[in-house]
Amino acid sequence: MSAIFWVLWFFIAFVTVLVAFTLRKENEDTPRREILRAVESTGKMGFAERSFLWVFSWLDTRFRIEDYWAMSRDAYYNVHRQMPMTHAEKYKLRIIWYWYPLYCLGGISFLAFIILIISGTVLGIFYVPGGDGDPSPAYLSMQFIMTELPFGYIIRSVHHWATHFMVASVFLHMCRVYFTGAYRNPRELNWLIGVSLMFFTIFFGYSGYLLPWDSLAFGAATIGINMANSTPLIGGWVANAMFGGTSLSYQTVTRMYFLHVFILPVVVTALIIIHLFIVWVQGIAEPH
Ligand code: HEM
Repeated sequence: MSAIFWVLWFFIAFVTVLVAFTLRKENEDTPRREILRAVESTGKMGFAERSFLWVFSWLDTRFRIEDYWAMSRDAYYNVHRQMPMTHAEKYKLRIIWYWYPLYCLGGISFLAFIILIISGTVLGIFYVPGGDGDPSPAYLSMQFIMTELPFGYIIRSVHHWATHFMVASVFLHMCRVYFTGAYRNPRELNWLIGVSLMFFTIFFGYSGYLLPWDSLAFGAATIGINMANSTPLIGGWVANAMFGGTSLSYQTVTRMYFLHVFILPVVVTALIIIHLFIVWVQGIAEPH
């Protein structure tokens, strides 16, 4: 069995190399030359680049990788030359200028996020994430920020209002994308990333709402933990992961602090970078 296997593979490899060599055109001024020239003048190149170019040119001299790559690229662009038509193009919508201002809502969401990161970092210096005792260290630290820290109440207010602003602008941005049909092919992935950004934005707001550990926070936490506990099958697990237990305790504050300050910023920043990168690559859907 194994002998036949090897003979067969050897035969296939032999025929492949034979076909590649037969198809090979001699004396062509293809990028191969440039690659070889680059390899020859590798004085300023690092080891990694030199090795890569050497391997690439070795393979390309024998198997014309560059040519086949160019052929498949041309074939691809022949088929996909046309981007799918947008809503405006398809229905020949001309009176769409009044949509223009709504195209800044994504940018406004981004701006709000930057303001939140900066003001949140300042608040984080003075906030104490402890929920034990009455009043709790968390509550006392908020009181300190509001009454004693110079400009503390302004920084907290900026953080507070920027949150409202971000939730509203992300939601309106989503509506704009929906009503201009910009979620369609080829932007489905960015729509899905957007949906998760909407979810994380709301969760960001909720986790921050609990941090002062005042009566408002306690009320909101009670609703949240009851909702988490009543999730079918995984209720206990969800409550543990989000609230640090199946009933409210001092751990709820530390857990929310951890989510609000460590997990969510990393996840949301990464998602926004991917979201904007995709917008940059695909361009804005319309109007063209
Ligand atoms: C943190 C939240 C978000 C930020 C910072 C953000 C940012 C942006 C920006 C700057 C653009 C460029 C066009 C514009 O500004 O309108 C954009 C486009 C887009 N966004 Fe968002 N976005 C967010 C949330 C969302 C949500 C919730 C959705 C949908 C569920 C979404 C889906 C899209 C799509 C599909 C596009 C492409 C639209 C087009 O090409 O016209 N984004 N986003």
